[in-house]
Amino acid sequence: MTDLTDVTDATDVIPRPRHAVAQDACFDLGPDTRLVADEGAGHTERWLRATLGAATGLPLAPGEGGGGAVRLSLDGELADEGYRLDIAPDGVRLTGGGPAGLFWGAQTLRQLLGPDAFRRAPLPGRRWRLPLGRIEDAPRFGWRGLMLDVSRHFTPKDGVLRQLDLMAAHKLNVLHFHLTDDQGWRIEIKRHPKLTGTGSWRSRTKFGHRASPLWEDKPHGGYYTQEDIREIVAYAAARHITVVPEIDVPGHSQAAIAAYPELGNTDVIDTTALSVWDTWGVSPNVLAPTENTLRFYEGVFEEVLELFPSEFVHIGGDECPKDQWRASAIAQARMAELGLADEDELQSWFIQHFDTWLAGRGRRLIGWDEILEGGLAKGAAVSSWRGYAGGIAAARAGHDVVMCPEQQVYLNFREDGGEDEPVPIAFVRTLEDVYRFEPVPAELTPEESGHVIGTQANLWTEVTENQERVDYQLFPRLAAFAEVAWSALPAPADRDYAAFERRMATHYRRLDALGIAYRPPAGPRPWQRRPGVLGRPMDGPPPNK
Ligand code: ACM
Repeated sequence: MTDLTDVTDATDVIPRPRHAVAQDACFDLGPDTRLVADEGAGHTERWLRATLGAATGLPLAPGEGGGGAVRLSLDGELADEGYRLDIAPDGVRLTGGGPAGLFWGAQTLRQLLGPDAFRRAPLPGRRWRLPLGRIEDAPRFGWRGLMLDVSRHFTPKDGVLRQLDLMAAHKLNVLHFHLTDDQGWRIEIKRHPKLTGTGSWRSRTKFGHRASPLWEDKPHGGYYTQEDIREIVAYAAARHITVVPEIDVPGHSQAAIAAYPELGNTDVIDTTALSVWDTWGVSPNVLAPTENTLRFYEGVFEEVLELFPSEFVHIGGDECPKDQWRASAIAQARMAELGLADEDELQSWFIQHFDTWLAGRGRRLIGWDEILEGGLAKGAAVSSWRGYAGGIAAARAGHDVVMCPEQQVYLNFREDGGEDEPVPIAFVRTLEDVYRFEPVPAELTPEESGHVIGTQANLWTEVTENQERVDYQLFPRLAAFAEVAWSALPAPADRDYAAFERRMATHYRRLDALGIAYRPPAGPRPWQRRPGVLGRPMDGPPPNK
């Protein structure tokens, strides 16, 4: 017989709260327990009733009653994303600084009820109790993100909604949605229907690293209709998650060129012969720097802005090979006309065009750190991926930065050096490595550090062909990342990893209850391996650029 009460200690909450004081007693939830929301708290009330109601089978009825209550309210004295949770013998009071803080407090409440609170139906005979005490909490960073690449392998809409739930459970609040790349265009654009008609699927796919001889010889594809996108954005907003769309220009654009060959460098190659790319790497097929291309993408962004209320819009800007521009008379003439010294300046001109265009519409551009090279408008921000250096330069120049160095938080990179790791890519980043990641470089002054608005983990999906593989790469490391992004942890060397590992024992049970196919600490389960599929392990990280 298992223990049918399962109280989670406040110190076992992940990400770790700032302050937690516990007493050795509990408040019991039962059929008469009420869920009462003050003005402005109705949204979290509905989420709690739906989520805890499903897991516990308790009605959590509104209004006053005899069985004690969980009361939700707002208090403007607290930080907007902060909350206070008081659990007393006669009931629970959860107070948020704003609606977001209240929602994050509800996530903590769910964890305190024990791992079975993460199931979608009650186990028989289960009792539900909360440990008495007080938690006061608020996040370290305002941008706590996950980048999900849905181009290399498509994540169907249901999978995106599930991912948003998993992010919410970890108090992450930005989904950086990588919607376009060489291998697939994933968002319906009504004025350019071939972007999805042609660009959203490929007839076969490289299985493993690009040097692998294996092919998955079946069509792969999919895209989100505009209705799907609206649903995703609304579902995210209901969880206080902002969806930041990424439309990659001027590189990583082969799928768009396959759909509309005139977007490519037509005087260099026969772009009508291109198809959506079926293997991995950095495609040489980049956008032509023509007025037609600019107008085309302005049209794309007009529809994107209609769909995504996010202040930031990501325009990619990374890894744009310049060979076709060097060979193109059209590109060279454009450079001469604009008085540009070289192709790097042409890339900057391209980015600056959309920087100005977005700023004129009240939005802010964000791009990978390559975009810094040509100078940016004041409000533009940088995703620092090649290391800390781009982020440091951006912060010093007064730009906001999201730290996501590949040396630290590329979760597509392997978690362990063992032979059994599925399709191992790059160098090893263990759970402990992620736990010891520090988003704010020590060399920044306090004022410059203020420009580090947050951090995100990135998942590129070349070798993660389905949800289980994505789960395996993301978890458990996303839990460590969430603690880095939310909790005020000490300097990396002083972080108590052993304690985190102990707390993870409870978290693995939550992940089990959620049905996440995480990497077990002892290594992959037999069906999580991919024997014979070539990866590309490397000994160590590239130099921090
Ligand atoms: C990137 O990894 N190319 C941003």
